[in-house]
Amino acid sequence: MKRTIKGVILAGGLGTRLYPLTKVTNKHLLPVYNKPMIYYPLETLVEAGIRDIMIVTGGNNAGDFLRLLGNGAEFGLKHLHYTYQQGEGGIAAALSLAEHFADGHLLCVILGDNIVEKSIAPYVERYLEQGSGAKILLKAVPDPTRFGVPVIEDGRVVRIEEKPKVPGSPYAVTGIYFYDEKVFDIIRTLKPSARGELEITDVNNAYLERGELTYDILDGWWTDAGTFESLLLANQLVAERERRRARAAPESARPSP
Ligand code: G1P
Repeated sequence: MKRTIKGVILAGGLGTRLYPLTKVTNKHLLPVYNKPMIYYPLETLVEAGIRDIMIVTGGNNAGDFLRLLGNGAEFGLKHLHYTYQQGEGGIAAALSLAEHFADGHLLCVILGDNIVEKSIAPYVERYLEQGSGAKILLKAVPDPTRFGVPVIEDGRVVRIEEKPKVPGSPYAVTGIYFYDEKVFDIIRTLKPSARGELEITDVNNAYLERGELTYDILDGWWTDAGTFESLLLANQLVAERERRRARAAPESARPSP
């Protein structure tokens, strides 16, 4: 029998790479074209059929998420779950706060600053068929050294390196991850990295060592939005997509100018 899946959006952190934009607000509340950044990962999960969603926030203006999103009615949701990350312990530390919410279900985890062009429904479907272990989504990028990068040998991922000086492939590990309930035990075994964080890359490597990590190549464009350059790119990509959608929409559905 197929298992069900819950969603977790990681929207904490101090966003220091965007300082002073993030001096008084949370990175995920900043605008990306015509919406606050957090709308995009939330829409991505909801569009893929995930209805049970937790937002892990922290840092500045955590209360604003509640004012902005409420119970998610604007997204067709009945309820949204929230939790608060004290300080900045890294992505894996933020995820560990969702253990109670996960309650043994499979998870689709998305970083709050990750924006995709197309639906992730096909990958959710494939992960549900997989039914356990983990799945990551890869995307070829011009600057892999900014990301987690899979070292690929004979078409197989042999390990993942976080921000390598010399990338082992042209791919970034995107911030969309699928995990089973073992992820929380794995996080408990992690030690902080050189940047003082519990790294999601170490979680993925742990699944890899167990032979339980699969990957897909993400279709359509993908970007994060945590640096000035990537935030600008995110704005441009979303603006272009919205213009394209407006052109394709029937006259009656077009927003008035
Ligand atoms: C994080 C992860 C990295 C991943 C990236 C995707 O990087 O550590 O592995 O490729 O998100 O957005 P960070 O934003 O913390 O630099």
